[in-house]
Amino acid sequence: MRRLILAIPLLLFIQCKQQPAAPTGLVTEKAMVVSAREEASKIGSEVMRKGGNAFDAMVATELALAVAYPFAGNIGGGGFIVYRKNNGEIGGLDYREKAPLAAHKDMYLDSLGNVIPNMSTVGATAVGVPGTVAGVFEVHEKFGSLPFSELIEPVIALAERGVVVTEKQAKRIESYHDRFVEVNGDSTKFAQAFKAGDTIKYPMLAKTLTAIKEKGKDGFYKGEVAEKLASFIQEQGGFVTVEDLERYEAKWRDPVVFNYKDLRMISMSPPSSGGVTINQIFKMIEPHNIGKYDHNTARPIQLFTEAARRAYADRNYFLGDPDFVDIPLGVLLDDTYLQNRMKDFSFDNATLSSAVGHGEVEIVESSETTHYSIVDAQGNAISATTTLNGGFGSKLYSEELGFFLNNEMDDFSSKPGVPNMFGLIGAEANSIAPEKRMLSSMTPTIVEKDGHLYLVVGTPGGSTIITAVAQTILNVHEFNLSMQEAVNAPRFHHQWLPDYVVFEPDGFSKELIEELKSKGYKINEERTPIMGKVDAIRVLPDGKLEGGADRRGDDTAVGF
Ligand code: GLY
Repeated sequence: MRRLILAIPLLLFIQCKQQPAAPTGLVTEKAMVVSAREEASKIGSEVMRKGGNAFDAMVATELALAVAYPFAGNIGGGGFIVYRKNNGEIGGLDYREKAPLAAHKDMYLDSLGNVIPNMSTVGATAVGVPGTVAGVFEVHEKFGSLPFSELIEPVIALAERGVVVTEKQAKRIESYHDRFVEVNGDSTKFAQAFKAGDTIKYPMLAKTLTAIKEKGKDGFYKGEVAEKLASFIQEQGGFVTVEDLERYEAKWRDPVVFNYKDLRMISMSPPSSGGVTINQIFKMIEPHNIGKYDHNTARPIQLFTEAARRAYADRNYFLGDPDFVDIPLGVLLDDTYLQNRMKDFSFDNATLSSAVGHGEVEIVESSETTHYSIVDAQGNAISATTTLNGGFGSKLYSEELGFFLNNEMDDFSSKPGVPNMFGLIGAEANSIAPEKRMLSSMTPTIVEKDGHLYLVVGTPGGSTIITAVAQTILNVHEFNLSMQEAVNAPRFHHQWLPDYVVFEPDGFSKELIEELKSKGYKINEERTPIMGKVDAIRVLPDGKLEGGADRRGDDTAVGF
């Protein structure tokens, strides 16, 4: 009897853990889009209400973000999607930018072999060949069900009607103002001051989108738009030519797929490092049953940090464009290899990154890029992450075409051993070559549970993307948070080098920080940035959808 009484709280606890958390985000019956702006989520959702599928909604949402969220939404950048159809078929699309034909390994080095400051980050010299327009056409041709014109028309209308500036957007535009003027002079659209409540209209972007509507992919990569774009970039000192644009192709890639406990995860493969790195992190923590600890306490933070430390050390050394380098994926993702990597892990003391690798670098920025998640009424799912790299990319804005150009060339390692703008140290595998794709951290991810769609997850955040996606999945699955709670939960990050843990503001107590410090963790207490803006969807046990829209931004879930 006494034993039974003692067992009751334990049974209740296990029972509690097994009941999925009640939703706290938007719940819809059938379909949902979660993206960085309400305008884009609405356009994507409307496409599905009209009978379009998730792939149609992807086309509309991606293009709508180029209008509503020029900070990272784009037609001058690139991205990745991972999809899962309702019949279980999965795939990935790489519409990542690539290096122009004129690019070469030392293009950002001076005569002494030193990296030339800003050349790979600011202005025309930083621009890679954009992939987004090729990406949306590839998706539409393969899986779309509505005519392309029906998908782009609401986006053109939005560009003409204009987008109301939010408080957060006004602050961002203000903080980038001087850089816009430095790169573009003082007479372009973004040299003006905008305040919250103003409406920004994009008539020139509407014109470019109309050319795409009328001529398809060629409306961007050939003819008038391509000629104007290439001349503009070259006049400003950059390298992208008409031939580069004409040769651009999006590529279908097999995603990285792995099991974690009762979950099956599907994430992006190289040239994104996202899938490989979260695969390594999850497999390194799997034997330790992280869910038995309280959320965001010392032990799960230690476990996650040590796995991330080891995974990022591999990421930075081995990964690059698979069309150019041989990546030893078989070894990197092998269970025994990963368990051996964690052999020296102990809860008593931090492992020093110098024992795993070497170098001293600094994280500079981490909030760019944008992500959206889509589920349609048939159960098809898309996880899409798209970027200009930095906020507003290279800051180079074509007034005539109405959009910003990326600074994605900085995602190559300009010089092995020297950090990029995210503080990531690259290696030979990610060195520059003509037509090569630069390594990415974008981690669009779909999770299945018991063979059914369970989560659609992703985020911006540069090098912090991978850890934010992994923590969001763990928050739902191991710590039993709702989708919205999992997105809201404070995040932390470690990326091997620099060897310190970074915490978001206000989410972690002084005592916890002191406890970690006493175990040898180096903690950057001066820098507590916001990490990522996760936009995610959870399929509830009754088949309804719960959105997790990140309040760190203006992100919004819309559906029906
Ligand atoms: N530009 C950020 C990334 O691709 O990871």
